[in-house]
Amino acid sequence: MSDTVLHVGGASPYDVVVGRGLADRLPGILSDSVQRVAFLYAAELDELAEPVLDVLRKAYDVLALGLPSGEATKTAEVAFQCWDALGAAGFTRSDAVVTFGGGATTDLGGFVAATWLRGVRVVHVPTTLLAMVDAAVGGKTGINTAAGKNLVGSFHEPAGVLVDLDTLLTLPRAELVAGMGEVIKCGFIADPVILDLVETGPTAATDPRGPVLPELVERAIRVKIEVVVADLKETAGSEDGAAHPGREVLNYGHTMGHAIERAEGYTMRHGEAV
Ligand code: GLY
Repeated sequence: MSDTVLHVGGASPYDVVVGRGLADRLPGILSDSVQRVAFLYAAELDELAEPVLDVLRKAYDVLALGLPSGEATKTAEVAFQCWDALGAAGFTRSDAVVTFGGGATTDLGGFVAATWLRGVRVVHVPTTLLAMVDAAVGGKTGINTAAGKNLVGSFHEPAGVLVDLDTLLTLPRAELVAGMGEVIKCGFIADPVILDLVETGPTAATDPRGPVLPELVERAIRVKIEVVVADLKETAGSEDGAAHPGREVLNYGHTMGHAIERAEGYTMRHGEAV
């Protein structure tokens, strides 16, 4: 399979590259002025992260910070630890952050990048299906507080996104199926071919070695790109008569999904609830 480059237009354009074994592309995305890279990764993925770290270490001074997985990483405490580490390493505005993990890692890492010196470059390397088709694309970053999820954050578009399908080979099947919730959502809101592919071959649709899942990932990312280019900051809405329904269309199925998550005491995966 050759790599596919999906372009995200707008004021801060970037590419989402979908393929396999993409680590070598990182130096091409990080600008020439970058000297130090903070590699913010889900610590449990240390083996998977090794090839990426090898590429980065050949070109940059790398500060590797292993973070808690899942929502436990989206806290002010973890953000503080990252800021402290960046400060101690003398990170400047021309340095960069690379995130490696699921959606919680890209959210936290994006937030750290958005806030350090009022914004440094960030490249996301999502490792879950959910993060590939949703969190890593579109520039939303954030952390949770006692008052609720994602209440603190900012829009900070990445300099690039590397969707390495090989990372799905070791993703637990339950995570793959949960990610499929957001893929199918994209089918309902914009691309019925997604629904056809899943309905005619549900097993192939979740096979990380076959050709169907890559097509689903690409199609879902295209849907997300179209939405965020039309309404990056979620200001358009169905009520204001705008031509495009706006970013809130991405919340299709989420009202019920969030209610289910809450009723289940957040023991259920987000994608499963959706
Ligand atoms: N996850 C919904 C959005 O990116 O707007």
